[in-house]
Amino acid sequence: MRLKVAVLAGDGIGPEVTREATNILHAVAELGGHEFTFVEGLIGGVAITDSGSPLPTATLDAALDADAVLLGAVGDNKFNSLTPDKRPEAGLLQIRQALGGFANLRPSVAYTALAGSSPLRPEVTEGVDILFVRELLGGLYFGAPRRWNKETNEAINTMRYTRDEVVRVARVAFELASKRRKKVTSVDKANVLEVSQLWRATVTEIAKDYPEVTLEHQLVDSMAMHIMNIPRNFDVVLTENLFGDILSDEAGVITGSLGMLPSATIGGAVNLYEPVHGSAPDIAGTGKANPLGAILTAAMVLRHSANLEQDARAVEQAVLKVLEAGYRTADIARKGENVQLVNTQEMGKHVH
Ligand code: NAI
Ligand code: MG
Repeated sequence: MRLKVAVLAGDGIGPEVTREATNILHAVAELGGHEFTFVEGLIGGVAITDSGSPLPTATLDAALDADAVLLGAVGDNKFNSLTPDKRPEAGLLQIRQALGGFANLRPSVAYTALAGSSPLRPEVTEGVDILFVRELLGGLYFGAPRRWNKETNEAINTMRYTRDEVVRVARVAFELASKRRKKVTSVDKANVLEVSQLWRATVTEIAKDYPEVTLEHQLVDSMAMHIMNIPRNFDVVLTENLFGDILSDEAGVITGSLGMLPSATIGGAVNLYEPVHGSAPDIAGTGKANPLGAILTAAMVLRHSANLEQDARAVEQAVLKVLEAGYRTADIARKGENVQLVNTQEMGKHVH
């Protein structure tokens, strides 16, 4: 198996956690006799410092030429005075747009060893393993018209979807569910919104191609409650853009720390993989960053870009074992628990 990965480590803790993630990929390549190559590129604040642009052409070219893009995080307080389009975060928006992925995958997994890091009761989170499939290029965030008319004190955004946009993301959800626990929960607000009626009708139609997968529909407001009350009921959760943004953050609470959450954006020219967290300037350089989100992101690279499902699972199992053995970075260590506090590098080595 050959895989070319563009590694864009970015700012703050980005390089610290990305190093541990690429170490894991190196180890998988060596064990399995795979040929993984890594091309590094600058993005965000480090790129601005180097060349004035948060996403230099060389970085974009390297990303488009790769089989997968692994991104750390961007963001540096020293650029806070710049306008949004010049800041490090602009690089992120630009690369997401250039790669064009329409399906954002965000797993929310409850690790038994971390029960108690989550504010939810362990009996609620036990065994939870949800995969959000969020549509990323449509809906309210992109629909036109959009404006804020300061003369008339009126503002407008537009929620818009075409059938084709729903079809393609629904297929991703059903394909993934068919390899998991074979259930898709589609989220909408079909009792109020026409867009949601189109969404629901289209998802129902696509479901016919996947008879082995059970489909259920949930209204977004009650879904927000169910995620806190009965998260174990869900396998793949399919949502439009705005609903998925909100619900996947809500479900992030189940895992216990931002530092544990991976993500992937697929369906575009090249898949983009990034931990959910930002550059965490408050802990950058201290060795406190939790690399597990980035390492679990590397597992997603193996699953979705290298088709190495067994290796992806092996990495996830290794993370589980390390947690069960009691190793903790500061963000997941609870006072009074008999655990061993480790730094970023040590955590990465233990997963190895
Ligand atoms: P953040 O995710 O960087 O940090 C929020 C809190 O979580 C901080 O207290 C941080 O120390 C902690 N945290 C985050 N990741 C952690 C990890 N792996 N291990 C341990 N603790 C961790 O979000 P914040 O503070 O709002 O933003 C900081 C910078 O990052 C800003 O410039 C922001 O724009 C940028 N950002 C970038 C993102 C990206 O690159 N995808 C996403 C979110 C924010
Ligand atoms: Mg969000």
